[in-house]
Amino acid sequence: MTRLIFLGPPGAGKGTQAKILADLRNIPHISTGDILRNAVAFHSSLGEKVQSYMDEGELVPDELLFDLIRHRLSQTDAVERGWILDGFPRNVSQASFLENLLQELNQSCDRVIYLEVPDEVLTERLHERGRKDDSQATIRKRLEVYRTQTVPLVDFYRERSLLKTINGDLPMQEVTKSLRQLVGS
Ligand code: AP5
Repeated sequence: MTRLIFLGPPGAGKGTQAKILADLRNIPHISTGDILRNAVAFHSSLGEKVQSYMDEGELVPDELLFDLIRHRLSQTDAVERGWILDGFPRNVSQASFLENLLQELNQSCDRVIYLEVPDEVLTERLHERGRKDDSQATIRKRLEVYRTQTVPLVDFYRERSLLKTINGDLPMQEVTKSLRQLVGS
């Protein structure tokens, strides 16, 4: 059973590394960004509610994420095999919600993997990727939102002795290697 949270700025490689590790361990990779982008692509009612926030690089309101996360972590594959959470939690209110939810579901998080990458490298990676929210202005906004709302989670999880930091400013295979050493796979 593996239960991990991936934390880090936009472009740190959370999605890339979470997918590799989830495939290796055969556990669900739960990316809130992917779930929300799918909702937008399928024009669901959730998609309609979240699109403008995503386009602006703002966080989607917490209450839209809570039911989604509760539902996903209660599904059989997540209950039986574990999970990697990528992109959730994103602020202290989401982290507190998750802490309570895990208690309720009788689950616990093994580690929080914090991928550290300098801002100038992040900006370059996101420019090159060119996703809809990778324009210059939106990248700047996403980095600002990360600094003000998500960075406090570093202390939140450090205080709970869950935080493990990995240097994400290395070639992808090197990052994967450090990650595998850390989680023992
Ligand atoms: P989300 O999809 O979570 O975006 P993000 O956190 O900004 O993360 P990214 O996908 O940009 O980066 P990543 O760290 O996953 O890096 P990746 O592996 O892709 O969220 C998007 C939006 O959804 C948010 O702005 C918000 O509106 C909303 N949202 C999502 N979750 C939410 C929540 N919980 N609450 C509220 N709102 C929420 O890599 C990036 C690029 O770098 C790729 O091209 C990759 O190939 C490359 N790369 C990766 N690793 C390396 C490496 N080691 N060397 C060189 N290149 C690399």
